[in-house]
Amino acid sequence: MASGPDLRTQVGIVGAGPAGLLLSHLLAQRGIDSVLVEDRSRAYCEARQRAGVLEAGSVTLLREAGLAGRLDREGLEHGGIYLQFAGERRHLDFQDLTGRSVTVYAQTEVVKDLIAARVATGGHLEFEVSGTEVADLDTGRPLLRYTTREGTRTEVACDAIAGCDGFHGICRPSFPAGLLTAVEREYPYAWLGILADVPPSTDELIYAHHAHGFALHSLRSPLLSRLYLQVEPDDDIAAWPDERIWAELQTRFALPGWELKEGPILDKGITPMRSFVSSPMRYGRLFLAGDAAHIVPPTGAKGLNLAMSDVAVLADALAGLLGGDPRRADAYSDTCLDRVWRCTHFSWWMTSMLHATPGADTMEAALQLAQLRYVTTSRAAATSLAENYTGYQPPR
Ligand code: FAD
Ligand code: PHB
Repeated sequence: MASGPDLRTQVGIVGAGPAGLLLSHLLAQRGIDSVLVEDRSRAYCEARQRAGVLEAGSVTLLREAGLAGRLDREGLEHGGIYLQFAGERRHLDFQDLTGRSVTVYAQTEVVKDLIAARVATGGHLEFEVSGTEVADLDTGRPLLRYTTREGTRTEVACDAIAGCDGFHGICRPSFPAGLLTAVEREYPYAWLGILADVPPSTDELIYAHHAHGFALHSLRSPLLSRLYLQVEPDDDIAAWPDERIWAELQTRFALPGWELKEGPILDKGITPMRSFVSSPMRYGRLFLAGDAAHIVPPTGAKGLNLAMSDVAVLADALAGLLGGDPRRADAYSDTCLDRVWRCTHFSWWMTSMLHATPGADTMEAALQLAQLRYVTTSRAAATSLAENYTGYQPPR
């Protein structure tokens, strides 16, 4: 005898990254229930070191959703960045240029806050599931299937499914063959990131252009530094003992009269760099959001912010669809892709301006330096960088 679904919800959500978690909140605020499944443990999701910069719009979104209590207390407002090149460090004052700033608050903390608030309000979150599948996407009753941590195979009947399961998730590959167009570029370098138990040596982020490759000085708190080095795409973290990392950081950030403070390295890892945009972001009742649909290299600090703006659009689209008005759902993909492409261009532009391409001719470095001089001396050019960095919303 055929048995029916085990559970019923309005929106099935795959993935407990920033996109899936924030979506579950925004839907709850609109009176829409959801079941969110995640294949990793809660502790793993809360500890995964990733992004650190929130655009002003992302902060407003979290604040309006009542999720910014700790962010407002602990987030560090930054009114600009430094660009370092050719032995000089120049400041870009975002506040002066655009009237906007960004907030340094780690993705780990955003994720902790979102999970805690969802658990406190009785949200249905399932960690450590396996065998996640989505089916019947072109019907009005798509299905989400998974095996719980305890080993129970479960089927959930949904009105819609949100694929917030990152670049390696199962939702994008569940689109019918031939429907998706993917545009992709892999960069010939990667980032080695460290978390160091030492107060930051700078008041604002430093993006450094250097003949050895790019370096970034960021932070996590007044006591914790986050630093990155451009390395080879296939570099092995074992080839980077702590002393080598610090020596290379010292070289790339060196500036007379300024000192880079060193401390114990708490975490280190290498991340490949790619630009990737897959469209459309919807098939039937399956909607993709965040890294499931697009990836940017981290130089523009956009990945986390794009994930958040996608789900802000998606929450309204789903509220309309479930209430009988499909217009915003029909426009979802195009609405998101406008901003996705703006951020894809900005992230590629920042990346190309600041990284050393292996094997490049001397023209490349000369052009990069010309561009860096331009954005640090022309108010028009500086304003364009500042507008994109603090968050540009294309008009619709
Ligand atoms: P994710 O955070 O990737 O969340 C997707 C979730 O889905 C994950 O928890 C995953 O475990 C889960 N999942 C996957 N498959 C399944 C499945 N089959 N079933 C159930 N759950 C599943 N951006 C920056 O701006 N700055 C940075 O420094 C930076 N560093 C990064 C470093 C790394 C290693 C990576 C991968 C990304 C980095 N990013 C950075 C990008 C930024 O972190 C992402 O854009 C952001 O996490 C996107 O959020 P998301 O919710 O869309 O996806
Ligand atoms: C970070 O703090 O992790 C960070 C900040 C800015 C970036 C990328 C990463 O552009």
